[in-house]
Amino acid sequence: MMASVAAAAASLLLALSAPVLAADPAAAKSKAAQCAACHGADGIAVLPDAPNLAGQNEVYLAKALRDYRSGARKHEQMTVMAKGLSDKDIENLAAYYNRMPHGGEGSGDGASKKK
Ligand code: HEC
Repeated sequence: MMASVAAAAASLLLALSAPVLAADPAAAKSKAAQCAACHGADGIAVLPDAPNLAGQNEVYLAKALRDYRSGARKHEQMTVMAKGLSDKDIENLAAYYNRMPHGGEGSGDGASKKK
């Protein structure tokens, strides 16, 4: 009962935000080149203190970037990075990283085992 109410609310939310999420992941590619230095070209972080972005929820990624940009979430490097992003960039980047596979084939959590 509660669950179906929550599911209905969630799908309503998704429906309402659908126009906003008409993102174009391909358009994010050139922007993402700046992110790769830390988050990796495949969304698996190359810095030990940077999070993996591959396969992360799209809504979460977009929110994180907006929060860095607005100052609601603070981090020296990410605040600087997010300041240069438009709303469209944020949507596109969120969609881009969301569509990347986590960690790669049979690698468990990936990154650390690659080397
Ligand atoms: C200089 C290194 C660096 C660059 C460049 C960089 N990031 Fe980050 N990013 C980080 C670090 C470190 C964190 C963790 C920050 C924290 O603790 O809040 C982070 C956090 C994030 C998060 C939050 C992830 C989570 O799990 O909450 C997102 C989303 C993100 N970065 C996206 C991007 C995007 C998109 C770009 C390119 C426009 C980018 N980053 C460029 C270092 C970087």
